[in-house]
Parts: sequence; structure tokens; C-alpha cells
Amino acid sequence: MSDATKNPLDRRSFLGTLTRAGALGTAALTPLATLAGSADEVTTGQPAAVEHIFLAKPYLQAVSPTSMSIRFITALPSYSWVEYGVQGSFDKKAHAITDGMVNANNRIHEIVVDGLTPGLTYNYRVVSKEIKEFKPYNLTYGTSIQSDTYQFSTIHPAAKEVSWLIFNDIHDRPASFAHLMGLNKENPYDFVFLNGDMFDYQTDEQQIIDHLLTPCTSCFATGKPMMFVRGNHETRGKYARNLKDYFTNPGGQYFSFQWGPVFAMALDTGEDKEDEHPVYAGIVDFDHYRVKQAAWLEQQLQSKACKKAKYRVVMMHIPPHYSGNAHGTLHCRELFSPLFDKYKVDIVIAGHTHTYGVHPPVAGTHNYPLIIGGGPKEGNRTLIRVKADQQALTLQMLKDDGAEVGRYEVIAKR
Ligand SMILES: [Fe+2]
Repeated sequence: MSDATKNPLDRRSFLGTLTRAGALGTAALTPLATLAGSADEVTTGQPAAVEHIFLAKPYLQAVSPTSMSIRFITALPSYSWVEYGVQGSFDKKAHAITDGMVNANNRIHEIVVDGLTPGLTYNYRVVSKEIKEFKPYNLTYGTSIQSDTYQFSTIHPAAKEVSWLIFNDIHDRPASFAHLMGLNKENPYDFVFLNGDMFDYQTDEQQIIDHLLTPCTSCFATGKPMMFVRGNHETRGKYARNLKDYFTNPGGQYFSFQWGPVFAMALDTGEDKEDEHPVYAGIVDFDHYRVKQAAWLEQQLQSKACKKAKYRVVMMHIPPHYSGNAHGTLHCRELFSPLFDKYKVDIVIAGHTHTYGVHPPVAGTHNYPLIIGGGPKEGNRTLIRVKADQQALTLQMLKDDGAEVGRYEVIAKR
């Protein structure tokens, strides 16, 4: 849990953010800029006229047949909850409870709505009541705010097909989300997967809001679950250790999930250089982390769910081949690639190189197809679409001008 979550709000540092936002005055910083009091108020540390608003709209995270994780961020410490129901009703309420206490006096919210019916569509909204004063025996609420109404669907365990979209290597270019999403047109999809390097390095909460949450909630994340595995760039910068406070994957930083005919595994491939490289200043240990993941991966590949699934899919940021000879690539090759071969992984989808390509199996090197998405500059960005049904898994890669630059089909063997 981050300081930002543990402590209600460090008003001074929050106001510091407001000053910077106001001073920069960029469109991207509008949500906070509109909140900024005068520079005098900020520099003297006096309370500014800060409103209770949503800094990030609700975004859907880990989903299961019976649950959905809903996250959002408020400007001020609050008590917040989700109201939901079916067919237009909001007759149910969910809030988060930790150790017998309802989560409150926080700004970064995660509410897991559970007890849901598999494969059903729900409408929902989030509500937040500012906590103005928190005395031991007298709590004073302030302004109440409510989001717009959105919808989500739970996973149907017997789903015969699944489709999803993959973004990789956006690198702090928020406009790329809407542009690439536009390439999908009206084609249906169940979820979105962010395959690393959404950022150049982690700076603060404002960056997470402006460069990921706002563009993603504007085009899909209020209604479709979003999973996010880190790239090497997400491990950099002073706010890298806070990033996980904003996201929930099904099981952690590396994770697996079953959806329809697909058993998917996401690997957190770490940094590209050696742990001892001076730029990491002695504070990373990705070698052990990758070794631990390899053991976990083998367990996943041996699981009944994986063996039975029609398609075994791996998504990871650093590809084990076609990615130079940096340590991260070589270590991924050494640890993960033999497992992909041994357990007959059907397809591996990566990013990192900024050179898109479809690499069919090469006997003795990698027996699985390896797909690498492009990015981040205009003319090199890609949207990957995957659709899996009972007959085949089809992957299509579109370049940002809409041209198809890659396609691969895996015929169901099981
Ligand atoms: Fe990248």
C-alpha cells in the first residue's frame, strides 16, 4: 500500500502538485489545474479551495465470472462505494472492507463487487462522500459526488469464444490510445491488455491519470476490463514503486486467467539491462524475480486448466527473441523460452523492440510463433487484435494508418 493510500492526503505535497499543474497550464493537466488555488495559497501551505471531484473515472480491472474490480481516484479523502444492479436498477451497494473496517479516508479506491452472476451485464456508478473532518468520535462528511452510469459484463465460464485488444509501447503518448482504438472500429472485444511501456518512467499520480487513466476511460476502460503488465520502462522513475497501487490484475504483477477457450499467462519481464547496471543504483533485483516467475510459469503450464484449454497464450513485454542481446532478453530466452517449447505454448505476444513483426516458429529456436507489436512513434504504432473461438485463434496487427501489417492463425489442436 502506498503512502498515498495509507495516509489520507498529504495536503502540502498535493498542493505542490497543484502549483506545478497550474504553472504548466497544459491541457493534459486540466483536471488538477482547475482545482488550483492561487499561487500564494499554495506556497503558504494554506488550504486552497479544493473541490471533491473524480480525478479518474471508474476503470474496470480484474474480472471473474462472479466479480469485478472497479477502481477510481478522488481529489479528497472520502468514503466511496459502488452502486449497481441489472436492467437499469442500482439496488445493490458494494464497498471495500479491510480487517473489519470499511475502507475510507482514502483517495485511490478499489471496490471489488462480488457475488455476481456469470455472464451477466450490470449497470454501475460510483459514489464518493468527502471526509471533511475525521475526529476520533465525530466524523464530518462534506460534498457527495456521483459518477455517470456505465456497464460491465462478468465472464461466462462456458463462453465459446473471446476477443481482446493489445496496446504496447505507448510511451507517454496519451493520444495514441484513442487513435489505435479507432482502428478497431465497431468490432466487439471482451477486454484490453496493456503489454508494457505505457510510460517512459514513473513520475507521479498526475502522469498516471493524464497519460493512461483519462485516455483509457475516455475510450474503453469504464466498460471493458483493462489488464496491465509492466514493461521495463514502468520499473523506472521515482513513482515506479507506487504504480501497483493503481492497478489490480487477476493475481498480481504476473498472472494467468482463463477466458473462453484461452488460458493466458502474463509475465512481468523486468528491466532490459543487468541488475548491477549503474543506472539502477543498486535498487533492482529482476534476476531473482524472473527465476521465481519461471517456476510459477511452469506450474501454470502444468495446470489442468492450461492443459485443457484450446489455446495457451503468453503475453510479455520483452520478447525472448528478435530483441537484441541485452541481458533482459537473454534471461527471458534462457528461462521462459524452453518452457514455452516444452509445454507447447500456442502463441507469444510481446512488444519492447518498437519494430513490429510476426515471427513464425523456427525449429530448434522457438517452436511457438512470436508476435511483436510496434510503437511508439507515428507510423510505427500498432493495435493487436486477437479472437479465439472453437476452430482457431486469429491474431491481426494493424498499423496506425489502418493497414494490416501482421496476421497469424493458430488452428485448434485440442
Ligand atoms: Fe518500449
